[in-house]
Amino acid sequence: MKVLVTIKLPPEVLSLIAREHQVEGYDADPPLARRQLLKSITDKEGLLCTITDRIDAEVLDRAPALKVIANYGVGFEHLDIEAATRRGIMVTNTPGVLTETTADAAFALILAAARRVVEGDRRVREGEFRYWAPFLFLGQEVHGKTLGIIGMGRIGQAVARRARGFAMKIIYHSRTRLAPAGEQELQASAVPLETLLREADFVTLHVPLTPQTRHLMGSRELEMMKPTAYLINTARGPVVDEAVLVAALRQGVIRGAGLDVYEREPQLTPGLTDLDNVVLLPHVGSATVETRTRMAEMAAENLLVGLRGDHPPNCLNWAEIQEKK
Ligand code: DGY
Repeated sequence: MKVLVTIKLPPEVLSLIAREHQVEGYDADPPLARRQLLKSITDKEGLLCTITDRIDAEVLDRAPALKVIANYGVGFEHLDIEAATRRGIMVTNTPGVLTETTADAAFALILAAARRVVEGDRRVREGEFRYWAPFLFLGQEVHGKTLGIIGMGRIGQAVARRARGFAMKIIYHSRTRLAPAGEQELQASAVPLETLLREADFVTLHVPLTPQTRHLMGSRELEMMKPTAYLINTARGPVVDEAVLVAALRQGVIRGAGLDVYEREPQLTPGLTDLDNVVLLPHVGSATVETRTRMAEMAAENLLVGLRGDHPPNCLNWAEIQEKK
């Protein structure tokens, strides 16, 4: 069958696909241009894509033979699953494998923001570290503080496990409450969102992007946070109203932030990069050699199994497609 791969994959993973199928691969870093995607998809049965490819009805209408969309990544707001389901196309993702790595990144941002790691690094490189001084780059303690986790799914729980090692008090707000045993194991208490915002020293976001979570953090929410608190976002940019956040950071409504994702990625809200009290990463939450390799393997496996007509391990719409048959 014919397969379109819109991203660079490890060569051994690409050859796994090429052993069974005819692959049109895009072996470059910038996202595949929409125009090219619309052109290349027309005769394909399989598609391996990622967050930078918007797979909507327009793309699907051009792909009458498409059977499987294997997303490289766990988030799937860029895929119109309903439109795919209507056409009987399986959609898969790569959950689980990036949980711990993304939690590491969230913790890296917590520590970097609170301990001013990036500012300090910049100062040293500029040759401005001339002497030790008692008030030089004073940050905030992380250990023993209160961590507020919004979204207690796999990644939120992995962040909570790390926070226990820092003797943090853990409060959380989530659509689904953990079972009592889970709360006990993580020493985490479920609280209303307002309580979390008012009490947490670090608010970390781990919700998917949905119509309900878009701009979950707006001016009202940021103003509820402590003026000494930090906001950490490794989830999705549009969960935060970025213009409001920039104003809040500038005016000292909150003390700082650590961001891996942006509202209009890769564009940034003007003013964000002028601020010293924010640490900025280029959406690299899952970017380790091990995790990105595993994501590629999982996406390829989902694709290959789906193209054989079997149930891919991580199919998001399998039941719905079976119902339609
Ligand atoms: C994910 O897996 O959703 C990452 O954010 C990369 O898309």
